[in-house]
Amino acid sequence: MATSTVLGVLEGLLELPVHPVFVHFPIAMLTVTWGLVVVHYWSGSAAVDRLVAPFEWIGVGFLPVVILTGFRDAEWLEFILEVEWDQPLIWHFIVSLTASVVFAVHVFWRWRRRTDGEGRWVDLGLTTAGFWLLVVTGLIAGEMVYG
Ligand code: HEM
Repeated sequence: MATSTVLGVLEGLLELPVHPVFVHFPIAMLTVTWGLVVVHYWSGSAAVDRLVAPFEWIGVGFLPVVILTGFRDAEWLEFILEVEWDQPLIWHFIVSLTASVVFAVHVFWRWRRRTDGEGRWVDLGLTTAGFWLLVVTGLIAGEMVYG
């Protein structure tokens, strides 16, 4: 009796969504990344500039976990194999992957290139695009969860 109750509870826990546990961490880190890039160009502070990389690497490092748990909660590939364009999930998937690619490209670009001169527009452009794509990802998620 006790064993079956414990197994039942464990089974119930495994069925819970796991994606929401992880999503907020990269959203926070990458939002701070964008804020730091903006403040760096506004203030010219080298100290602020040095903070960008740690925040962005941690944020980007968490994205594979977020994407993997998203697929798990979406029951893997069914929503792609039987795509319904009027459902928010497919748009959440497309916009979130685009945001992830933008930040991944940016973090490697910043690592390899100088950010002064013309580079500042790439720096500001990619992080601004990535941030707003994350906002749209969250808005679509809101429609999925609460809509
Ligand atoms: C940058 C990547 C992503 C971010 C930032 C993100 C963000 C979010 C957020 C904020 C929510 C609402 C969570 C809540 O209830 O509080 C959510 C829900 C959800 N997302 Fe994502 N998401 C991402 C990628 C994906 C991907 C790639 C998939 C599917 C392939 C996916 C599938 C889902 C599903 C199914 C939900 C509904 C709640 C659940 O059962 O997990 N997400 N997402």
